[in-house]
Amino acid sequence: MSGKFITLEGIDGSGKTTQGYILEKELKKIGKEVIFTREPGGVPGAEEIRKLLVQGEKDRWSNITELLLFFAARRHHFEKILFPAIKAGKIVICDRFTDSTVIYQGRNNLQLANLIKQLHLSVIGIIPDLTLIIDVDPKKALNRGLKRRSKEMRFEAFGLEFQTNARNGYIELSKTDKRYHLVDGNNSEEKVHQLIWQKVFNFLGF
Ligand code: TYD
Repeated sequence: MSGKFITLEGIDGSGKTTQGYILEKELKKIGKEVIFTREPGGVPGAEEIRKLLVQGEKDRWSNITELLLFFAARRHHFEKILFPAIKAGKIVICDRFTDSTVIYQGRNNLQLANLIKQLHLSVIGIIPDLTLIIDVDPKKALNRGLKRRSKEMRFEAFGLEFQTNARNGYIELSKTDKRYHLVDGNNSEEKVHQLIWQKVFNFLGF
């Protein structure tokens, strides 16, 4: 595959969606063919599955059912957007990918962690070229998330301890492979963009 696959990761309210839009705009400005998409979702069928995942009571699904829903959404997104766009040589920026599943569903459950590895290998198979993890203070991030008051509160409802645990997971994960880059998100939007731009600039080599 000839394109580039960049993922944005971080806890809820870390600012990755805002940063994704800015990155997309700046890359387009210099003439790159870019797609900015997200998970769960990114394409109509997967957005329908997203609603099942992010709305409603926090214990509405068993953990295995929830995991399968994430992978159903991911496979559909992969078929419709990720694979064709990367194959066509585009830069694909994705707001969350399998690393989110590793952190949110797999971090405290060895059985699920193994299942995630197997599912990813058998039904997805692609690994991002570059993963930017936006690291923020969980308290700050949670307040930002709660201020949004969207319908999508299912994961925010897990609370501060859950977000802190996810943040620690991301910090540990960032040390496991050189595709990961931790970005300090406790800065202004502009400053965080500059930090991200530097990483993308070095990676794409222009
Ligand atoms: P997202 O839209 O990125 O939320 P936010 O913009 O608030 O960061 O993701 C929605 C929620 O889904 C988020 O709380 C994290 C969760 N999630 C998982 O638990 N596992 C996954 O595999 C993915 C992709 C997301």
